Amino acid sequence: MTTISDSFAATAARSSALAADVAAHPGRYRILTGERPTGALHLGHYFGTVAERVRLHDLGVETFIILADYQVITDRDGLGAVRENVHNAVLDYLAAGIDPARATIFTHSAVPALNQLMLPFLSLVTEAELHRNPTVKAEHAAAGRALSALLLTYPVHQAADILFCKSNLVPVGKDNLPHVEQTRVIARRFNERYGPVFPEPQALLTSTPEVPGLDGRKMSKSYGNAISLAMTADETAALIRRTPTDSERRITFDPALRPGVSALLTTASLCTGTEPEVLAAEIGDQGSGALKKLTTEAVNTYLAAHRARRTELARDPHLVTDILRTGNQRANAIADQTLTEVRTAMGTVY
Ligand code: TRP
Repeated sequence: MTTISDSFAATAARSSALAADVAAHPGRYRILTGERPTGALHLGHYFGTVAERVRLHDLGVETFIILADYQVITDRDGLGAVRENVHNAVLDYLAAGIDPARATIFTHSAVPALNQLMLPFLSLVTEAELHRNPTVKAEHAAAGRALSALLLTYPVHQAADILFCKSNLVPVGKDNLPHVEQTRVIARRFNERYGPVFPEPQALLTSTPEVPGLDGRKMSKSYGNAISLAMTADETAALIRRTPTDSERRITFDPALRPGVSALLTTASLCTGTEPEVLAAEIGDQGSGALKKLTTEAVNTYLAAHRARRTELARDPHLVTDILRTGNQRANAIADQTLTEVRTAMGTVY
């Protein structure tokens, strides 16, 4: 059996060559990417993945976006406000520039044939391999509870997400690289065992650095350190005001020793395009009050147009439901066809 051996550096190197090829030949690629609808989309999602999706979509690459609702319950008991989260994510995609006529936006739970692919795929993976997945390990540690079988096996489920539509390009952040590698292994093993059905998709590493949460930890709604795209300007100001900084008046960029101050500088930097060190020098001795004011203005200015479009789109009560219905229909048609190919290859058509 082949193993998951790809190093991060090799993938990063391959990714930049790949990015150039995608720009030159967008018609050769089909993207599948998405997220877990666990909360509102925030700035981390925006810089990390949404902006990149919009860029690729604008290049003319065929785009599928999954709202992975089954993945929500990998590390928790309930689905929470999943309907609301899905609804809000669709509004954010649209406000960010995704055109639903050219992109298929769909949910796991509405596409049975996609989920059925998980069964043959599970047979192609060993338990030891799943236990070695570094992202699963990290998520298990963060969950602080027993490892659910769904958390252990979700990379296989993610392979079904990617392969059901025979996507060959998966734009992801670093965390998801092991899953794309696992998907490649599954595609290869399936094809070896049953005949050629699946492409081996490539990961396109998103170039934006991870956006820290306001306190310097990973940006996450559950830490209360995330600026969500849908917040109002006032809510953004209030959240930034509550960010813990320090009493040193001179503002410097030092992520290790001054996580709060540096996270604010990074956030302002991403929104203004000015280096964090330059912003720090501009603020100088004016202290964290001035830093917070500058960051608030930077974020609110950057998100103003997105938020205005979002508010406008949200006025139509049927828009999101219609888009999801169409997306789920398209996804089902493709998943049914792929499942038929899989069953034909496996000899299980009766
Ligand atoms: N695991 C991804 C995340 O949380 C979400 C996801 C589910 C995904 N299925 C996918 C990403 C398929 C890319 C391709 O970020």
